[in-house]
Amino acid sequence: MLEIVTYGDEALTKKAEPVREFGPEIAQLAADMLDSMRRGRGIGLAGPQVGRLFRLFVTQVDDDKPRVFINPEIVLTSQDEADYEEGCLSLPGLYVGVKRPAAVKMQAWNEKGRPFTTEADGLLARVMLHEYDHLDGILFIDRLSPAKRERALGQYLRMIRM
Ligand code: NI
Repeated sequence: MLEIVTYGDEALTKKAEPVREFGPEIAQLAADMLDSMRRGRGIGLAGPQVGRLFRLFVTQVDDDKPRVFINPEIVLTSQDEADYEEGCLSLPGLYVGVKRPAAVKMQAWNEKGRPFTTEADGLLARVMLHEYDHLDGILFIDRLSPAKRERALGQYLRMIRM
């Protein structure tokens, strides 16, 4: 069972390493991450959030299929942005509006080592960009203005002390 680390854990601020070898181990990690994500009622989870500093994340948005993104690269993002309330399993209970590109095209490998390209908008694009950020040690609060970040973090820290 994978434990999801929360704000303050070093793993969340580090740049993750590419996955070098595909095989049963990485496939198992992806499956375990999907389990942990569902248990936490999340719609996305990235390697660093379970203390594995690999460039890998999983998503399952609404009635979409479960998706595994390994060594993802952003090919394209839309000029137009969307503002949407985000949360994160590593900052449980905090929800804040974050501006991001409304659509994204991403290239990655799946758990079987097969390359694919995904174009998405709406909630899936949002989750893909949020999870991709985790691979570079970026949290959603880091996408806010300094004043809003400070306020959001203060709110979170007060909440977890209760
Ligand atoms: Ni997150």
